[in-house]
Amino acid sequence: MIHDRDLRPPAPIAASAFAPTRAAGRALVIEPVRLRDLRAVARLQRRAFRPALAYGLTTLIVLWLLPHVRFLVARRGEAVLGCAIGDRQEADTRVINLAVDPEARRQGIGAGLLRALEAALPRGNVLLMVEEDNAAAQALYRSEGYGPVGHAKDYYGRGRHGVWMQKQRTGQAAATLRV
Ligand SMILES: CC(C)(COP(=O)(O)OP(=O)(O)OC[C@H]1O[C@@H](n2cnc3c(N)ncnc32)[C@H](O)[C@@H]1OP(=O)(O)O)[C@@H](O)C(=O)NCCC(=O)NCCS
Repeated sequence: MIHDRDLRPPAPIAASAFAPTRAAGRALVIEPVRLRDLRAVARLQRRAFRPALAYGLTTLIVLWLLPHVRFLVARRGEAVLGCAIGDRQEADTRVINLAVDPEARRQGIGAGLLRALEAALPRGNVLLMVEEDNAAAQALYRSEGYGPVGHAKDYYGRGRHGVWMQKQRTGQAAATLRV
């Protein structure tokens, strides 16, 4: 995930058509977040991340308001089980945040959210940042075609390094990043 201190509005993009995705055989729906979901997403953030990394309600409201941001949730009925947030960065796509409730993991929800976000932001390569010791997220990203392209020392705090991962969707060579 991108640290909320690094969230800056990039150039606006044209709205892309978004098709809601339904997980086959389950009453799980992935669709754009609604304003009334945001408190539940804030609770999900606190359950999924340690306090320094969880996005608070204010950050979530700002992300919901920004027209260039795609903000999806996975829900069963009214229960919000996961979220995925991304935007366009110049010619590429950036995954800002991905989280699944601890009680709902290993059911394919994280992968489903990531795929839906990629479909909602179809331009360029996809870039994201993940904590160096976050083995679960890195395994998910690898299984979805992402590979490491850079290292960000102390990105998440002293001694907590970040890894840039990228999924190539264009012919260009993978970027090499170091912060
Ligand atoms: C990372 C996260 C979003 C994964 O969500 P999820 O719904 O459990 O992931 P999925 O069920 O879609 O997993 C898809 C694949 O990813 C890999 N994977 C996911 N979690 C894994 C784990 N704990 N250990 C090993 N592999 C894992 C597996 O290959 C898995 O496929 P499989 O279950 O068939 O083996 C979830 O663990 C989470 O919210 N973590 C805390 C927040 C976070 O770290 N977000 C990412 C920030 S960059």
